[in-house]
Parts: sequence; C-alpha cells; structure tokens
Amino acid sequence: MTDASATAPTVAPLVELRQVVQRFGEPTRSPVLAGLNLRVERGEFVSLVGASGCGKSTLLRLLAGLTSPSAGEVLIDTRPAASATTERAFIFQDAALLPWRTVRANVELLLQLRGTPADLRRERSAQTLELARIAHLADRHPRQLSGGEKMRVSLARALTLEPALLLLDEPFGALDELTREVLGEELLALHERQQWTAFFVTHSVAEAVFLSTRILILAGGGIAHDLPVNQPFPRNAETRESPEFLQRVAEVSRLLRTALAPTSAA
Ligand SMILES: Nc1ncnc2c1ncn2[C@@H]1O[C@H](COP(=O)(O)OP(=O)(O)OP(=O)(O)O)[C@@H](O)[C@H]1O
Ligand SMILES: [Mg+2]
Repeated sequence: MTDASATAPTVAPLVELRQVVQRFGEPTRSPVLAGLNLRVERGEFVSLVGASGCGKSTLLRLLAGLTSPSAGEVLIDTRPAASATTERAFIFQDAALLPWRTVRANVELLLQLRGTPADLRRERSAQTLELARIAHLADRHPRQLSGGEKMRVSLARALTLEPALLLLDEPFGALDELTREVLGEELLALHERQQWTAFFVTHSVAEAVFLSTRILILAGGGIAHDLPVNQPFPRNAETRESPEFLQRVAEVSRLLRTALAPTSAA
C-alpha cells in the first residue's frame, strides 16, 4: 500500500501571501494592505485593479522583494520574497531606457549588471528582440523610438532574465488605445509560449479582462473580489467584440464601482 500523502507531489504555489500588512508612516495611519491572503499558481495571469493609492504598486514591490511587509509573509516559491532566487522582472509605465545606449545595449543591461558574459548576453538579447518584434530597431537609440517601441524594448529587456514572474505596473498606461491593444495581444502570445506568471496592474477593466485568467479588485486594504476570467485562449481582436467578453467587462466594472463607492457602514 502506498501512502498517497507521501507520494503525491505537493506543489507549492508560485506566490503566497499570508496575512500581509503594509504600513507607512505613523502606526495610527491605517495600513495600505491590511492582512492580505493570496495564492497564485504558476502560469496565471493576474490583473490588479483598484483606486489610485489602494496599494497595487506596493503589492508588486513586495513581490519583487524590493520592500518587506510590516507583518505577514510574502512567499515566492516558498521563500520570503526578499531572499527568493526565483527570477522576477519588473516593467513600469515609463520604459526607463538609458538614452545613450542603443536598443540592443539597453536590452542587455540587466544581464550585464549580473555579470553575464558578452556572448550569452548577445544571444539572449537577439532572442528577446525577436520575440518583442524589434530586432530591426536594435541599433537605434531611445530618442528614435515611439512610445510603443520603447515599451517593447522594456519588455525585451525583462524577458532576457527568463523570469518566472513578470510584474507589470501599468505598462501600457501611457500608450494610445490601438498600440495598447496590439501590445496586449503580443503579451498574451508570449505568455502562451513562455508560461511565466504575470501580475499586471491596470486602470482599464477591458484590458484586465482581455489579458487575465484572474482579476483581483483591491479595496480597503484587501482583496475585495477575486474573479476568474474564463474566456478561452487564444484571445484576439474578435474576443473583444464577443458578447461574453463585453458581459464580463460590464460585470467587473460594476463590482469595481461598488468596491470603490464610499461605504455608508460605520
Ligand atoms: N514608501 C512609501 N512611504 C510612504 N507612503 C507610501 C510609500 N509607498 C506608498 N505609499 C502610500 O501607500 C499608498 C499606496 O500606494 P501605491 O503606490 O501602492 O498605490 P497604487 O494602488 O499603485 O496607486 P496608483 O494607481 O495611483 O499607482 C499611497 O497612499 C501611497 O502614498
Ligand atoms: Mg501604482
């Protein structure tokens, strides 16, 4: 007889938050995150939505291990985020490129900072420039790029780390609607190929529904709603016009409005 509990592989979630509190300033100020619990499995695409100041970027910084929680645990692959070795890459609204470096040299920057040998850097950057569809821009400088192209450089740079976890803080927030949609579709295509796990902050419900397998509405220091998005993949331009998609956008928007409405409760 075999003991199932001894033989069954127990796969820990990629991300686990236990009673996470994040407080800034005086102890009398209410915490930004007030006892957050969350489990996220490998391959999920999680969008975070919520009012400005509700703690979305704070949560990403905790996951990146850039800050430690005031209380509770942020675990990545069962290890505290600050000491976890799981590869994580952060992408911000501002592509944050070095203006004096070419696109290729910008894409190689993170590997260079880690001391990766030049030939491996070159190989990795060539791959991710290709994946982000900007191989033809490799020798340009940032000032010669559109906003969308800069964001592709930022994405290519992040992917050189071969991250298990991609943290995206309003990456498409400064882009026009069409560029945003195209980049969203390409991000999903990459996700399908590479299966990293994503935390994606956005103020656009439609974008969240289009990209995600799961949407978290943050409000009042916690997760007000944890919503699955069951639209099949691949998702494309037609998806955006389907009744199921439009209905989900309406539902999530309604829940978001309710979560953000000032409560009358004391
Ligand atoms: N290092 C810090 N010191 C003090 N307060 C901070 C710090 N970082 C964040 N805060 C505060 O915590 C709250 C949450 O900030 P956060 O940046 O996480 O919000 P957000 O949800 O990302 O908002 P937005 O949608 O505007 O980007 C804000 O009130 C902010 O002022
Ligand atoms: Mg933010």
